[in-house]
Amino acid sequence: MIVKEIADGIYFMGAMHWDRRLFDELIPLPDGTSYNAYLIKDEKIALIDTVDPSKRDELLESLDEMNVQRIDYIVSHHTEQDHSGAIPDILEKYKEAKVIASKLGKELLKEHLLIPEEKIIAVEDGQNISLGKRSLQFISAPWVHWPETVLSYLREDKILFTCDLFGSHLATSRIYADENPRIYESAKRYYAEIMMPFRNKIKKYLERLEQMEIKMIAPSHGPIYRKPEDIFKAYENWVSDKVKKEVIVAYVSMHGSIEVMVRHFIKALEENGLPYKLFNLTVTDIGESAMALVDASTLVLATPTVLTGMHPLALYAFYLANALNPKTKFVSMIVSYGWGGKVIEQAKSMFKLKAELIEPVIARGYPKEKDFDALNALARKIAEKHKEKGIE
Ligand code: FEO
Repeated sequence: MIVKEIADGIYFMGAMHWDRRLFDELIPLPDGTSYNAYLIKDEKIALIDTVDPSKRDELLESLDEMNVQRIDYIVSHHTEQDHSGAIPDILEKYKEAKVIASKLGKELLKEHLLIPEEKIIAVEDGQNISLGKRSLQFISAPWVHWPETVLSYLREDKILFTCDLFGSHLATSRIYADENPRIYESAKRYYAEIMMPFRNKIKKYLERLEQMEIKMIAPSHGPIYRKPEDIFKAYENWVSDKVKKEVIVAYVSMHGSIEVMVRHFIKALEENGLPYKLFNLTVTDIGESAMALVDASTLVLATPTVLTGMHPLALYAFYLANALNPKTKFVSMIVSYGWGGKVIEQAKSMFKLKAELIEPVIARGYPKEKDFDALNALARKIAEKHKEKGIE
């Protein structure tokens, strides 16, 4: 665990998980991750979040090394186990400690961590809890990314503790964002995978946070921001309604027909002045494609027919795109089939994005002249739509 004093009496306690490669058994972690707790030493001692259960020993040993004899408060911003999982261990060791959480957080801590009701203090939006010379103010921020989430603001030091919000999955010995040159790539990946479905909530929270005087943003994953305005600016851009002229082409090909169609289609996109990103779904890292969805204008999913529906990898991509709810403006499909199928009906019944569906291209078997013409027409149509909407 990396322990560093980030302000007088305030310590970063980051458990680096350098070799973790998957989060929630779903999200790839090319750069590992960290679980950051923070310790505030005042008349009262507060521990801000804990760590993943796999790192509980590191946290307990570090508290011993820091000679922490007493903890009065454990702030639980969010109940997901990568932050709350070691709370029972802290409560076991520091018997006098009370957990501070939102009202719903209290319920979830009882359900998920089996923490007794009497050990938890529920706080309201705007409530202050004094630590002595300092006080923590709680800011209700549901749905970033669970419904119980709160942030906390150490008023005197102007440090905002944000748990998952503004986090990044990045294991690093450099604890400040400005020491990590690729931090905005990590932060964007994190936003895409975790926060994007809650874009409209985050817009509102940003408006509130930007009114506050904040010197440091201390998340519970990844580095700390000493220039909050930079991460605010990045988030403002990601959560805005603005898209960039870019077509994501995500495809899977079984016997080559889709591959041929996709190769033709990207040439047609080029001829129409449309930048694109190509993802072969058999090898793509879903984090990369999620990042591309943060601001791309258009998604085209290309799939062969398996039995009567989409290839399972295309179905998975479709499901994830629906779940991530990006601000994509246009969606279309390129489909091939052998003897029939209901891919388009299946896609239409699943479609949840607030995007315009552009007529798909459907070919039987190996693509013929008319199919190549249809792909050219699809690229032209997408270019026209961009012009109509003024997407540059
Ligand atoms: Fe980092 Fe939602 O837990």
